[in-house]
Amino acid sequence: MAERRSLIVVSNRGPVSYGRDAAGARVERRGGGGLVTALRGLVAHHDVTWIASAISEEDRLVAADGGSDGVVLVAHDPVAYDGYYNTIANPLLWFAQHSLWGLGSAPSFGAASHEAWEEGYVRVNRAFADAVVACLDDKPGSTVFFHDYHLYLAPAFVRAARPDATLAHFVHIPWPVDWTVLPLEWRVAVHQGLLANDVVGFHTERWARNFLRSSDDILGPGPRPRVSHHAISIDVAEFDALAASPAVSEHEAGIAAVRPELLIVRVDRTDPAKNVVRGFQAFELLLERHPEWRGRVSMLALLDPSREAIPEYVAYRDEIERAVARVNERFGQGGSQPVDLRIADDFPQSVAAYKQYDVLFVNPVFDGLNLVSKEGPLVNRCNGVLVLSENAGAYAELGEWAIGVNPFDILGQAEALHAALSLPLEERRRRAEALRAHVRENDVGRWLQGLLDDVAELSA
Ligand code: G6P
Repeated sequence: MAERRSLIVVSNRGPVSYGRDAAGARVERRGGGGLVTALRGLVAHHDVTWIASAISEEDRLVAADGGSDGVVLVAHDPVAYDGYYNTIANPLLWFAQHSLWGLGSAPSFGAASHEAWEEGYVRVNRAFADAVVACLDDKPGSTVFFHDYHLYLAPAFVRAARPDATLAHFVHIPWPVDWTVLPLEWRVAVHQGLLANDVVGFHTERWARNFLRSSDDILGPGPRPRVSHHAISIDVAEFDALAASPAVSEHEAGIAAVRPELLIVRVDRTDPAKNVVRGFQAFELLLERHPEWRGRVSMLALLDPSREAIPEYVAYRDEIERAVARVNERFGQGGSQPVDLRIADDFPQSVAAYKQYDVLFVNPVFDGLNLVSKEGPLVNRCNGVLVLSENAGAYAELGEWAIGVNPFDILGQAEALHAALSLPLEERRRRAEALRAHVRENDVGRWLQGLLDDVAELSA
């Protein structure tokens, strides 16, 4: 790692969230999601202040007490936060950037959406910017690192208040070319906000290129920040240790005891972008078209419940459950069912499943990167095959050792699963070893260094 630097990291979800145990004592819980996992490594090597939203009730109490070492929790107005997170950031920006709408019926932006934009998204972004400015005044010369779609407007607010600040923004999700579905004023604000940074980073060249194009389309030619791409990864040492931990071994023994000859695994949040329903439809088609697999292969689906205050997510979870019931009804034999669906937040269980899969099924509609496609191959012990959507950012890196799929083509996915299950052992081993070596050599430290180098080159 290069020299120690003073950094201000800004993201909606912070590295920890607080709660209370049964006895009423304050407990700390690690924040979830790939972003937080990846950024945690920064703290060991640099002088980091991390600004995030107070999300739980207990977070708000911690915020009122002035935060905790290196973490500033911003306690937003609850109504503003609800509009920002539950109306704009997730069902609107997330859906737009992952192309999740069928435009014949959604979206429609009524008065509530416009109010959530002004009184929620804009307001929360301003509150973040105020916290950043206060922090910059405490630690002058720090580099500010914004993260993700919750914070598109904050950089422009900070730039207006502190014109000389060094600002970088990393977008962890896909960037589409066409933003015309958003009202003009919103799409202009999103782009102007991002262009107020000195550096804007994406996981892949595809998203970076789209950003430059949409900026030209929406704002016309003009000065641009440095736009770069660096694929995020995992902390290999931390992940190895987790894979060897007793909690994981215990789950692994449980999975090994019930698994049939061949095991397909998927690990995701219950999010429409993850394409879980089409995945079950593809598995159903596999069993229909290739009866030789019936009884010999099962699918273990481990899904982390996500964003459950948002109706689209609740409806999607119901759809998932119906799709699974259908496959199990059609192809269950005796006591055994082809799909084992477990909806729970249980990371050690996911890591145990990673170790056991013959096929890892990762078929998102779109995904900025997708860390599952790196975590699984790193710890798998069965020469497992990766079936990967061509719309996952990770496909650019890992595609040559995976079996690629179009996420909308259900028949194509069924046949890809068949091909993966049928691959000769030698070929499985060759691909699995190449994937493992790639992830080992390209760990999260390399991603961080790439971003820091972008900033360093600016001042050089
Ligand atoms: C994705 C986003 C992150 C987000 C995570 C979990 O990985 O890029 O910004 O934190 O999902 O979603 P949540 O809404 O629970 O924070």
